[in-house]
Amino acid sequence: MALLDILVLIISAVFLRQWWRRWSKTGGGANNLPPGPPGWPIVGNLFQVILDRRHFIYIVRDLRKKYGPIFTMQMGQRTLIIVTGDELIHEALVQRGPLFASRPPDGPVRLVFSAGKCAINSAEYGPLWRSLRRNFVTEMINPTRVRQCGWIRKWALDNHMESLRRQAAEDGVVEVMAGCRKTVCSILICLCFGSKITEEWIVRIETVLKEVMMTTTPKLPDFLPVMTPLFGRQMTAARELRKKQIECLAPLIRNRRSFVDSGGNPSSSCLEMASPIGAAYVDSLLDLRPPGRGKFNEEELVTLTSEIINAGTDTTATAVEWALLHLVLNQDIQRKLYEEIVAIVGKEGPITEEQVEKMVYLGAIVKETFRRHPPSHFMLSHAAVKDTELAGYTIPADASVEFYTAWLTQDPDTWKDPDEFKPERFLEDGDGFDVDLTGNRGIKMMPFGAGRRICPAWTLGTLHISLLLARMVHAFKWVPLSDAPPDPTETFAFTVVMKKPLKAVILPR
Ligand code: HEM
Repeated sequence: MALLDILVLIISAVFLRQWWRRWSKTGGGANNLPPGPPGWPIVGNLFQVILDRRHFIYIVRDLRKKYGPIFTMQMGQRTLIIVTGDELIHEALVQRGPLFASRPPDGPVRLVFSAGKCAINSAEYGPLWRSLRRNFVTEMINPTRVRQCGWIRKWALDNHMESLRRQAAEDGVVEVMAGCRKTVCSILICLCFGSKITEEWIVRIETVLKEVMMTTTPKLPDFLPVMTPLFGRQMTAARELRKKQIECLAPLIRNRRSFVDSGGNPSSSCLEMASPIGAAYVDSLLDLRPPGRGKFNEEELVTLTSEIINAGTDTTATAVEWALLHLVLNQDIQRKLYEEIVAIVGKEGPITEEQVEKMVYLGAIVKETFRRHPPSHFMLSHAAVKDTELAGYTIPADASVEFYTAWLTQDPDTWKDPDEFKPERFLEDGDGFDVDLTGNRGIKMMPFGAGRRICPAWTLGTLHISLLLARMVHAFKWVPLSDAPPDPTETFAFTVVMKKPLKAVILPR
């Protein structure tokens, strides 16, 4: 080989090395991003994450140990700033809340379902979001409306208990998650559309809902939008699913619209309208005109109502399943809860919502469930409203800011024996007594987020969980199956659920 060839080879190798070092670096540099794991040129950390074959949260959990409270991951075209430190989370979401209250752009698959980000959860921080959120809070979550709609919960829970009694009479074995999902979904459908629909229809909505959630979890085109044309099959499947979703929900909207337009004439709709005009969430959306926009079209109404059903079903059912797991595994906790319920409502009941709110031990069980098994380990993706700074680093407005919070409730410096399920920690003198679930006074646990984007329905979600637990434990003793004791292994399906759904034997009390 000639000397010149060798020289060219050496220079190329040096050049390649420099190029690789420059483009594989994540964070730092002139952009002043938080540091992060070196990635590959162009795709950043994306293929490393895919090849790792573990769920993203395990990767983030390891990276947190190495890079500390704030770091960058370059996922294809998307820059993710992961914030994990409790003080930084408080600073970003509470102290400087408005600055970090926006949402990043939707990927191409999510855009199919969000009708151009026309939903409370996906709207950017601005007039549309403000108008939608204010409307939701005043029309659906205000205490008077919650009380007015108490009959919906009673109707759905009576059906739920009836179904449990049937199963008890058959073989006594109950699969918790499936029944709770259906019940919570039926409550939310009725709150949204004011009508009682058949069980078959509820199951259809619930099935589509699950498919939508799985389809909209981030996939390759979300990280590499330039390559969207290569993912034609995924996009077609997403559009077909959207069509199915519209077919499921649009008839509910049309029937309600006829009922409202007719001034409440029952024969105007082919469905049984159980809520008076004004009491269903969709009623408030029919005439809403956010600043600078006209009325919502049918597709937008589908998105706006389905987000409520999506947001409230799995989060709630997951929490009930985890709580019952611990009640099944720890009969002493279940006995204490049963005694509290009987002390307040007697052996025969019935149980009212006001009574449930007085059950202190039940409240402690619900909080301990949120602590030990937060339904989501990340908040929804946030974004800064403009380029800003956090912990001395630059946070660009086009980055996704991800708050990883699950470790907070596993931190032995904050929680004694964090792996143990001990509701007593939320009673007087416990390490969780007086904890602020909204995170305003400091972040010890935040199952619902914190600041501007905190879950607007967290009290409603908690009420649903408490009611389900109180009624199920009041009527039945829950015990493990002798040949298949519950397995607490977790898996990820939108929320963090039990890998093997909880099955238990129920014995009428
Ligand atoms: C136990 C039950 C629930 C849990 C654990 C939960 C948790 C959460 C979390 C973690 C967020 C994201 C906060 C953030 O991005 O910073 C959120 C947002 C949201 N949740 Fe919930 N949630 C529950 C129940 C519900 C229910 C029952 C509804 C509706 C009836 C609901 C409606 C929403 C909405 C609309 C948002 C978006 C808020 C926004 O972007 O401004 N959630 N929830």
